Amino acid sequence: MLSTVRAGTRRGISGLGNHIGRATRRSSVGGQSQFRSSSSEAVAPAVHFSAAPDTVPIPEKPQRITISEIKERRARAGRLVAPTAAPSDADMFKGSTTGKPKAKRWDHHLTHESTLRAPCKLKQAARHLKQPGIISLGGGLPCPEYFPISSLSLHIPIPPNFSESDTLSGGGGETVTIGKYDAASTNQPAAEYDLSIALNYGQATGSAQLTRFVTEHVELALGAPPYADWGVCLTPGSTAALEQTLRMLCDGVGRRDTLLTEEFAFSTALETAAPLGVGVVGVPMDGEGILPREMERILAEWKPEERGGRRRPHVLYTVPSGQNPTGATQGVERRREVYEVARRWDVIIMEDEPYYYLQMGQPGEQQKASRGVEEFLEGLIPSYLSMDVDGRVVRMDSFSKVVVPGSRLGWITASAQLVERFVRHAEVANQGPSGFSQVILHKLLDERWGHEGYLRWLMHLSEEYTRRRDVMVAACSEFLPKEVVSWNPPRAGMFHWLKVRHELHPDATSKSILEIEEEIFNRCIAKGVLVARGAWFRADQDKPPSGLYFRTTFAAATPDNMREAIRRLGEAIRESFHL
Ligand SMILES: Cc1ncc(COP(=O)(O)O)c(C=O)c1O
Repeated sequence: MLSTVRAGTRRGISGLGNHIGRATRRSSVGGQSQFRSSSSEAVAPAVHFSAAPDTVPIPEKPQRITISEIKERRARAGRLVAPTAAPSDADMFKGSTTGKPKAKRWDHHLTHESTLRAPCKLKQAARHLKQPGIISLGGGLPCPEYFPISSLSLHIPIPPNFSESDTLSGGGGETVTIGKYDAASTNQPAAEYDLSIALNYGQATGSAQLTRFVTEHVELALGAPPYADWGVCLTPGSTAALEQTLRMLCDGVGRRDTLLTEEFAFSTALETAAPLGVGVVGVPMDGEGILPREMERILAEWKPEERGGRRRPHVLYTVPSGQNPTGATQGVERRREVYEVARRWDVIIMEDEPYYYLQMGQPGEQQKASRGVEEFLEGLIPSYLSMDVDGRVVRMDSFSKVVVPGSRLGWITASAQLVERFVRHAEVANQGPSGFSQVILHKLLDERWGHEGYLRWLMHLSEEYTRRRDVMVAACSEFLPKEVVSWNPPRAGMFHWLKVRHELHPDATSKSILEIEEEIFNRCIAKGVLVARGAWFRADQDKPPSGLYFRTTFAAATPDNMREAIRRLGEAIRESFHL
């Protein structure tokens, strides 16, 4: 059985006064400051584990809270006072975790690089700014007087009317401003954030203001993990989060670690792993993504001597909803099975979910016109996070696909131990996301829209993408030669994956799959349509490709252009196959 080492503990603090600048908090062990150096935690003795399954059952359903509960919690806590560089974490904002077990410790998964990361001295020093009356000659935080921006103004839609034309014409939107000193202004008693705070240096976790929003959003939309000591850390998007998490868990040079992922994987993830020396093994997939029995087989049959000395993989990187590039969405049973395999083999799951809220029904399936936000949330396939009894999931969320990619803003949710290591890296890598992005998203999502408005926006987007998906699928039915091209209509995201039967190609015996793929790709370019080649996403670049695929997206083009593009693609394939 698994024997774990617990070196520290943190407690859910419900209803804590929200004067972050003044609160003095203690951890529940030994009376040490919660913000003590955690480097001692990172070098706790290694854990011994076996492949025996753990017995704690995976919860049947996500444990979501309601918007009313969040409102009550905020009313109890009072106005959030979080000045410049105020430290914060999810514990300050999340609900009670009484009765929940702690996450397992993952010391044996951390890389040497990660264990060596010490707290950033300057970020730690900024925590003293909370002391009333202190005069700082310590950190190099510029005086906001020298910030040459005194206000920002945004024109934004008012939920539930998200029509772009209404917002552009001014009829359906509102103009809001963010001032430099709103939070200190007596004229704006409700203001909690402003440019003087957001545009100065902050903590690498991101601001308290947005940390509160994403913590609540996790509990509301995904359901809090079933263990107590979970946390969040804002990120400059999931690309950055992926790189940081990989370096935290996978050592490609010393330990020669290997990452498990989908057989066709997000190319940026592959490009992140390669220069770190991290090997990548693709798990065969079906229409619902990775196959648990194949994942189990790879792990069970793993022999380092047959794998160039590489040890058995201990991390899975997966995109469960609207996977990039295949568009595959793992159903709830699939997720449970994959999670069980991960438990049996002590695998950490990196759950990358930028398309989670873009879930959709089958083409032609009627959506109820008057869906409420509760119904929308109930209809979402549960996240790995909501099943994570061990604390072995690092979930990555991003505002890129559901607000704006240029925000470079997202967050991770994981066990406190993993979040703490992640923060140590963020402190010296990027110092957290941009203050501009944080203050703008806070104004939009927290202050103006609130949780309900944001969920309504997500519903609106998923309906928009459903319409786009339907246009693309209909165009494929109309223009592609079905005798050689097949597809599964995607159930989430923005990608459509087309399988081409290369074995029926007239040159199948003389040309490789990659050569035929390239030939069709070049024909497409000549005809004026850009598609993505399946080969770009192959996890195992050394193995021969298992088939010929193209990825198309229904995110970018207008419906008319989408139809025209698919018509051109159909022509290119027909010509290549002499049909
Ligand atoms: C699976 C996946 N993860 C992450 C990203 C990038 O996210 P971000 O913009 O937050 O870095 C993308 C974007 O295409 C993606 O498809």
